[in-house]
Formats: sequence, structure tokens, C-alpha cells
Amino acid sequence: MGLLCGRRVSILGTGMYVPENVMTNGDLSRIVETSDEWIRERTGITERHIAAENELTSDLAYNAAMEALQECGIDPEELDMIIVGTNTPDTLFPGVAPKLQGMLGASKSGANDIQAGCTSCINSLVMASAGIASGLWDTVLVVGAEVLSRILDWNDRNTCVLFGDGAGAVVLGTKDKGKGTVLSCDLKSDGNRHDLITLPGGLVENPASSETIARRLHYVHMKGNDVFKFVIRILPPYLKDFCVQTDIPSEEIDWWIFHQANLRIMQSVLKRLGVSQEKSIVNLDKYGNTSAASTLMALHEGYKNGKIKEKDKVLLTSFGSGMTYGALIFQA
Ligand code: ACO
Repeated sequence: MGLLCGRRVSILGTGMYVPENVMTNGDLSRIVETSDEWIRERTGITERHIAAENELTSDLAYNAAMEALQECGIDPEELDMIIVGTNTPDTLFPGVAPKLQGMLGASKSGANDIQAGCTSCINSLVMASAGIASGLWDTVLVVGAEVLSRILDWNDRNTCVLFGDGAGAVVLGTKDKGKGTVLSCDLKSDGNRHDLITLPGGLVENPASSETIARRLHYVHMKGNDVFKFVIRILPPYLKDFCVQTDIPSEEIDWWIFHQANLRIMQSVLKRLGVSQEKSIVNLDKYGNTSAASTLMALHEGYKNGKIKEKDKVLLTSFGSGMTYGALIFQA
């Protein structure tokens, strides 16, 4: 864990995209037995965006990627690698990244997906940073993109109220002048808790059959309360330790960008760290939990709405199915 050595890794551009269609808590209360009050109080979510029938994860990824590339004036031909963090690829194979590489015409680039639950975006940023720092790649496009609405059980109020569709993108490179410099990063996993968030049907463990469909195994299953307790127990000491190990005291962090899963989780973690709630960037109310896209979308909005200013130190952190978790600090 710790400081990134080697070549400078700069954040050059950011972007995001959400589908047009908005689903409010009120809309959801007409689908399952729930209420706007319950969802807002227990999660902090007010509405989420839902992909149109003809929209794929690769389409969302493309739109977010284009915004990030245009912002920093990087031509797709300059990309050495495209990494897409996603848990909802259009198909298991091919992955979203190779499709995106084709859509962008990034003819010199390699491409691969990373699937590590909601932490996929942090994993993707860390892989990209390591590749640039080591000299393997010069310019990397990282995208987190999800169409979770297609893998949700719309009869299950425990899960369907939590998630939304969206994509966030970041272009990383070596130029001195960028929006930020990656200082440190780390990834962890507790595979003994792999039962907490699963999509158990349709693959090797439970090949698709009429039985797996009847048992609704092709949808997201989550022990929400256990996830909540796991994160509250693991994340505060982990983040404290990460800051100590990387020699950046937690008091020096100007902005905390958490995986946008639940406002109560963010509030509890910050309280345990002794950090003011004002220091976190939150957009969960508008988008719900967009899994691998969430921290990248919050990062983009943090810049766009002028919260993140030059020299600010920003910590990104996520947790998700696996159970995986990780963090990255950069200076704007
Ligand atoms: N509307 C109304 N009532 C509901 C709803 C709903 N949508 N969902 C559950 N309830 C009920 C339950 O049935 C339960 O009723 P009971 O007391 O009569 O049994 C009651 O509300 C409380 O349920 P809990 O599960 O204890 O509620 P909790 O306060 O834990 O909130 C939640 C549930 C929001 C899921 C929370 O546990 C949570 O956010 N967990 C973390 C989820 C998360 O962060 N996932 C991220 C990773 S996702 C990924 O990696 C793909």
C-alpha cells in the first residue's frame, strides 16, 4: 500500500453521462411496496437515471469517455490503454473496453474490463496509474459504466430502490499540466465475505436454466444490512491507516469522495474518522448507487461545480462485491 513511485501520473480530463430517463422514489413506490420517505431516510437517494431500452453500457461509457477526452483535447488515437470498470458488461464477452476502443477509433490502444464490484473504478484507476508510473503506457482512458437496471429484480424492494445507471470517465497521462496528480493508491479484498453481494445465476456455478430463472438467480442479491456493518467496521481504520502509510494526515484531505452507496454509510465513516461531513462530495441523491461509475461521476461533478480547487488533496474510496475495497489520493 502507499505512495506511487515512478513517473508522474496526471489527471488530464474527466467526464460523465447519465441516461435521460429519471425514476423518482415516487415512481418506485408504484412498482414495489416502499415510500419516498423510507428511501430518503435510509439511503439519501431521491431519484436515479434508467437507461433506455436500446442503450447499452458501452453507449454510456462512450458518452462519458468523449466528454473526458474532449475536455483535455486528447485524440483517441493517442490512447495506449482503455480500462473499463463494470459489473454490467453488454455481454460477458466481448468486454465493454474493446467495444469502446472500436467505437472511439482508438486504433493504437489495448483494452480490458475490470470487474471488482463497486470498487472496479478504483481498481481501474490504480491499474492505469501503475501502468503510467512504470512507463508501460503514456495515456490511459479509465471509465466506470453500469446499466444496473437490467440486472435488478424489480420485485425486490431490498435492492431495486438502491441503484441507478450511469458512467464516469477519467483520462490519465504524464503531462505536467493537468487537473491533478496521483499521490498514492491501494487495493484490498476480503474474499471470505464473497456471499454478501452476488449475482449467482447464469454462469459456471448455476448455469442458466428455467430453474435459475424461476429462483431469480439472474438478479442482484445483497445482504444489505451485513454490507452496511462490514463497511462501517472495515473502512474507517483502513482509511486512517492508508493516510498514515502514505504520509498524508487525514486532516490534510480537503475532499472525501466515497462510493455513493448510502448517505448513512458516508456519514458514519466520516464521523468515525473525526472528519466534517462538509468535506465529502455527495451526488447520490440524484443518481443512486451507480456502482463502478459512482466515484468517477462524483469526481467529475466535484470539479464541475467548483468544489475541487487547485492544490486540494482529494481521497477517492470505494467498497463492493467481493468484498473488495480500495482508495486513492491525488492533489488537484
Ligand atoms: N422500502 C420500505 N421498506 C423496506 C425497503 C424499502 N425499499 N427495503 C427494506 N425495507 C424494510 C425491511 O423489510 C425491514 O423491515 P422489517 O424491520 O419489518 O423486517 C426494514 O425495512 C429495515 O430493513 P434493513 O435491511 O434493516 O434496513 P437498513 O436500515 O439496513 O437499510 C439498506 C437497508 C439501505 C440496504 C442498507 O442496509 C444499506 O445501504 N446497505 C449497504 C448496501 C451497499 O452499500 N451496497 C453497496 C455495494 S453494492 C455492489 O457492490 C454492487
